[in-house]
Amino acid sequence: MDFSAYTRFHALAQDRRSCRDYLSTPVDRSLLLAILDAARLAPSAVNRQPVRYIVLDANDPGVRDMILKVYGRQWIATAPVYIIAVGMHGQAWHRPCDGKDHTDVDVAIAVEHLCLAAAALGLGSCWVCNFEAPELHRLLGMPDDEEPVAVIPVGYPAETDVPRRGRKSLDEIVQWGLKA
Ligand SMILES: Cc1cc2nc3c(=O)[nH]c(=O)nc-3n(C[C@H](O)[C@H](O)[C@H](O)COP(=O)(O)O)c2cc1C
Repeated sequence: MDFSAYTRFHALAQDRRSCRDYLSTPVDRSLLLAILDAARLAPSAVNRQPVRYIVLDANDPGVRDMILKVYGRQWIATAPVYIIAVGMHGQAWHRPCDGKDHTDVDVAIAVEHLCLAAAALGLGSCWVCNFEAPELHRLLGMPDDEEPVAVIPVGYPAETDVPRRGRKSLDEIVQWGLKA
């Protein structure tokens, strides 16, 4: 068995971590395009692709203040770029048997593609969902069927030696076969 591609993927997944302190160094547009393209390749339910991205330069007038207004943690102000992942509920698949809206599932896969691609390029990122979503929706003038699902700060990490967050063991999360 050839585990080489898996080993590279595993190392990338292990390298990616939430970054909460960034250098002010700008991020080249080519790198932003690369991570957005990785997000674009994500699978989605019935291939509806109900996700779009708003890319904001933190130094553009009003941007950093707007982000701080909806997410008042000072660390986020260090990031040079914010990517807002927007879920488009009107385009997403809703499961016929129970009507479950799969927007969040599709956004989550795409955002994690983006974060892993950022890590592969030496960039830090962090999922942020604990922001004032209705306020950001209003400030960005979004239509009713769209939702800002995640704010993702992106930039070169200023952090060093941040301890890795623990994970449950496989024994805790995997059930092999039916329960006896
Ligand atoms: C859906 C989701 C929402 C999150 N929201 C926030 C957030 O609002 N603020 C924050 O600092 N981190 C947030 N995180 C980051 C998690 O705290 C982090 O992924 C977790 O503690 C594991 O750490 P790691 O990413 O460094 O491995 C979020 C992560 C996910 C997946």
